[in-house]
Amino acid sequence: MPTLPITQFVSQPGILDMGCGHPAPALMPVDAIKNASAACVRRYGSDALTYGASAGPGPLIEFLRQRIEKQEKRVLKSNEILITGGSSSGLDQWLTLYTRAGDTILVESPTYHLAVKLLQDHRLNLIPVPSDTEGLDVLALEAILTKLGKSGLQPRALYTVPTFGNPTGFSLGASRRERLVQLAVENEFVILEDDVYRELAFDGMAPPSLWSFSPSDAVVRLGSFSKSFAPGVRLGWLTAHSKVINRMATGGLLDSGGGINHFMALVMAEVCESGEYDMQIGRLRASYQERRDALHKELVQVLPDRCQASKPNGGFFIWLELPEEMAASELLGNAKKHGVSYLPGDIFHVDGRGANTVRLSFSMLSAEQLEEAARRLGRSIQEAGQFVAPSN
Ligand SMILES: Cc1ncc(COP(=O)(O)O)c(C=O)c1O
Repeated sequence: MPTLPITQFVSQPGILDMGCGHPAPALMPVDAIKNASAACVRRYGSDALTYGASAGPGPLIEFLRQRIEKQEKRVLKSNEILITGGSSSGLDQWLTLYTRAGDTILVESPTYHLAVKLLQDHRLNLIPVPSDTEGLDVLALEAILTKLGKSGLQPRALYTVPTFGNPTGFSLGASRRERLVQLAVENEFVILEDDVYRELAFDGMAPPSLWSFSPSDAVVRLGSFSKSFAPGVRLGWLTAHSKVINRMATGGLLDSGGGINHFMALVMAEVCESGEYDMQIGRLRASYQERRDALHKELVQVLPDRCQASKPNGGFFIWLELPEEMAASELLGNAKKHGVSYLPGDIFHVDGRGANTVRLSFSMLSAEQLEEAARRLGRSIQEAGQFVAPSN
């Protein structure tokens, strides 16, 4: 009988994979979970194993409430936060309650491709909004809103990853943040702010979240333990207006099943209270920063002159632009022959653009592996085109 897989990602022998945006196995907080699980059962006994409070267990909500309030300098009431099964699950829940098939949703492009899949599951009408190195292009958004208005279409929401974005690593600039919120208020759509990389800032603080300075009904912000702790815990949170939290907490899903992932949420409350959450974030930041530096430095050395690699201030990804005439999806076969893999950038574009772009994830491989991966990638690109060798 074939063995069924345990994990979502299965590595291919001989390939250094920069396609997968998962954390490195060596960075998983195994001991912290072992200790917190035992502490959770000791402290809560049968309460840890029954149906949980719909919005999530009090101790975890209270920890996050205080942490977010302090970090983001915005008062956060306990009825403005909900524990979710991660960003994906929170987004899906919101879409279930607040959209109907055919509704128009604006989507930053390029964007996290699996959120697009999720939006498509809800049969929504997706309108791409272009972005550049400063994030979503608010001028282009204004033009799109005018055009939609003329055709009588009212967008319901806009999905964006404004901080250390997936796939580019770019963050939305400060003045664009303000303009985006103004546009949402004026045009009465909700911003779905996917904020999963906030804690992974390498060079100073992460920019303020859109949620932190918006009228409370303008933004639904999705946070997650997946990137700041471990994705297997399947937990996150959502901050929004109390009426949204109440609607979600009293909806069929949570009324029937109780709070999402209750036992694990209480284990995470122990992790947080013990200080292990903050320590893990510290370890992750240092480690991912080292990986980003190693990959970026080597790319600069080995890539042909007409290739451009971004240097993100946080998150998991470097965005690579190849010369315009090269297609990343066509190059992939040759890259694999050289023992390296990545995701072609066109899969992140809602409108099929970006053929010459590449997403490189530095989260899974060690710094040494990333240096070797960059060299293999450089060789495969050199081989595919007639390039002048880099001068440095
Ligand atoms: C932008 C973005 N949102 C959401 C997710 C998934 O988050 P979660 O594990 O919390 O569902 C990812 C994971 O790669 C991501 O990059």
